Amino acid sequence: MSDHNPNSVKIQVPATSANLGPGFDSLGLAVSLYLTVELTASEQDRFIYSGNGHVEDTPNNLIHQGFREAYRRVAKVAPKVSLKVHNPIPLARGLGSSSAALVAGVALADKLLDHELGRDDVFQITAAQEGHPDNVAPAIYGGFTVSAQRDDGSYLSQSLAVPEEWQLLFAVPDFELLTSESRAVLPESYSRGDAVYNGSRSALWAMAVALNKPEVLSVASQDKLHEPYREPLIKGMRDCRLAMQDAGAVATYLSGAGPTLAAICLTDDISTACQKAAQSFIGDGGDVHILLPSEGYTYL
Ligand code: HSE
Repeated sequence: MSDHNPNSVKIQVPATSANLGPGFDSLGLAVSLYLTVELTASEQDRFIYSGNGHVEDTPNNLIHQGFREAYRRVAKVAPKVSLKVHNPIPLARGLGSSSAALVAGVALADKLLDHELGRDDVFQITAAQEGHPDNVAPAIYGGFTVSAQRDDGSYLSQSLAVPEEWQLLFAVPDFELLTSESRAVLPESYSRGDAVYNGSRSALWAMAVALNKPEVLSVASQDKLHEPYREPLIKGMRDCRLAMQDAGAVATYLSGAGPTLAAICLTDDISTACQKAAQSFIGDGGDVHILLPSEGYTYL
């Protein structure tokens, strides 16, 4: 339990941006916007939510689900807990809000279990729950992550620190896009040419981070596997990307399954110019977040 209050445990989990263009279901980044959850022992499961959108006080939320799944994995009975949640991560916008929730639940359980699982099992459990590892990996390990599913179904991930001067701008429009809906428009198979196009660019992304060569990102962020099929679902996507590139972004891509558009900017002036360029895309109810690279989940 926490140093401050012996009866509570508190955690922060970063928002994440997946795919990064070509790395569909594989590449991800952790960014400096945090879900926080405070857990206390309770007679019954409680869920007290503040932040984006509205989430009912029922034990069926993703944080409690992750918490119970962690206990199930170690064949123990999960205690009843009250969760006080603050979530500034936009819901269903492509910034990993559900992954952050699942990771929070499993990692809180791991803390109560004296780290019987550990970070790598938190990853295995949450990646299996999500069905793809690209958001949970950066939420757990931080930085830039490359993840893969092994032939036996388990997951592998490696992370690299992202250069601190890379600013990550997210233009969040005022409509939701469910991942299931955004995945339903994708084809079942692709040409060899498209596979080579994405494989080469995905590898270049890792080189851009490792060598701090942001100039590589304009090519490294191109995609032919998902963005062209998702574009019709996201009004104004193409124009906003072009406007942010004209404003000086070194790369733009669809964050996760969308509808949020991401731009990588190297100076405050460029971020400000990109923010202006994104105004008509985000509409009156949208938002722009200018964030920095982040570490993975941390107990507070
Ligand atoms: N890789 C996933 C997708 C991210 O693009 O559908 C969304 O969770």
